[in-house]
Amino acid sequence: MKPRRFMPSGPLRGTIRVPGDKSISHRSIMLGALAVGETRVTGLLEGEDVLSTAAAMRAMGARVERLGEGEWSVHGVGVGALLQPQDPLDMGNSGTSTRLLMGLVASHPITATFIGDASLSKRPMGRVIGPLSQMGAAFDASEGGRLPLTVRGAQPAVPIAYRLPVASAQVKSAVLLAGLNTPGITTVIEPVPTRDHSERMLRGFGADLSVEVEADGTRVIRLVGEAELKPQTIEVPGDPSSAAFFIVAALLVPGSELTILNVGLNPTRAGLIEVLRQMGGDIAEVNRREVGGEPVADLVVRHSALKGIAIDPAVVPSMVDEFPALFVAAALAEGTTVTTGLEELRVTESDRISVMAAALTGAGARVTETEDGLIIEGTGGEVLRGTAGAIATHLDHRIAMSMAVAGLASRAGVEVDDTRPIATSFPVFEALLDGLAT
Ligand code: S3P
Repeated sequence: MKPRRFMPSGPLRGTIRVPGDKSISHRSIMLGALAVGETRVTGLLEGEDVLSTAAAMRAMGARVERLGEGEWSVHGVGVGALLQPQDPLDMGNSGTSTRLLMGLVASHPITATFIGDASLSKRPMGRVIGPLSQMGAAFDASEGGRLPLTVRGAQPAVPIAYRLPVASAQVKSAVLLAGLNTPGITTVIEPVPTRDHSERMLRGFGADLSVEVEADGTRVIRLVGEAELKPQTIEVPGDPSSAAFFIVAALLVPGSELTILNVGLNPTRAGLIEVLRQMGGDIAEVNRREVGGEPVADLVVRHSALKGIAIDPAVVPSMVDEFPALFVAAALAEGTTVTTGLEELRVTESDRISVMAAALTGAGARVTETEDGLIIEGTGGEVLRGTAGAIATHLDHRIAMSMAVAGLASRAGVEVDDTRPIATSFPVFEALLDGLAT
């Protein structure tokens, strides 16, 4: 364990750049590994989760090499040609690596065992085992559909039409990736839209993928199987989920004016910015452009007096990873913030509803936990008391970073019990923060 107390800070001023998007980084390595020829990636997130994906693709035959900072080369084997890994695939803390790679293995004639850390080994995999079993893959999982688990790929796999029972981009992507090496058309029906990086990138690599939007907003995604992917050059935009911590920090600390360069603003990811604006947050977008097939802008964030609101559960999928940071913003807003429809947060890296309730309460915030969210009575701008001891992060990077931000806006500082998990998604978080906080 590596504890640290995050102390109150002066204004956050200046310009920073956050690392590459985690979701897009995973996908660029996976699809690069399935294209014949060399894919070049710049701006790749070199966090532990993405390195787990890189190691797994190497174990299945791809050549994945680091050329320089964020600059990677992937020589793919071609759809259908993944090799049998010799050892269990260690997914570390990464749910995205696990679920998406289970999809890839499911339609290849190989067998792979997935293992992970204590957090990942508690997370439910039944949500991908279900549809991938329908496609013909066989699973041998631990109690409750958890890791360690072994996937035996189907040969050939059977195309399915699968309606997502939970709003999950990981489940959608697992089925689509399995569909790549499946004869016929694999269909995913998505009643609630989730991040669409897989669809965008599959198209970019030349897959025949169509999206039909029905009158009620349901998306029907069809992928023609036995695809031939062509290698690409990919520039990964900055991760809005990493920017989130600095956005909230700049809003909360008086006198702050922070520019964050190159932030991905795909509408399926940008919910937090919308919600913070509704709360009164001053967040300006400049230099809107496209990077790697994704909308991007530079953000200018100024300290703002925030107001509590009731958050529409319809926005949850577009900010599903940002609730820990939002809870911290709500703790300093004026009035009450009510969140509902967050049951998915109970099965992320930690149970983010109860872990954040305990952490914020420990720092002096007024928080009530409900079955599917938190109700937070804000201080109206007054800093939090801070913690006496260390708050428990439960191997969850986003808990650690959110509570670090809470520490900036506290009297006595906030101590987190373990900062090591931050390296799964944002290895330079502390260095960036220390460079800004005065
Ligand atoms: C991700 C999807 C989301 C998100 C995760 C990354 C992805 O998970 O929470 O951090 O890259 O597809 P769910 O599919 O479980 O919502």
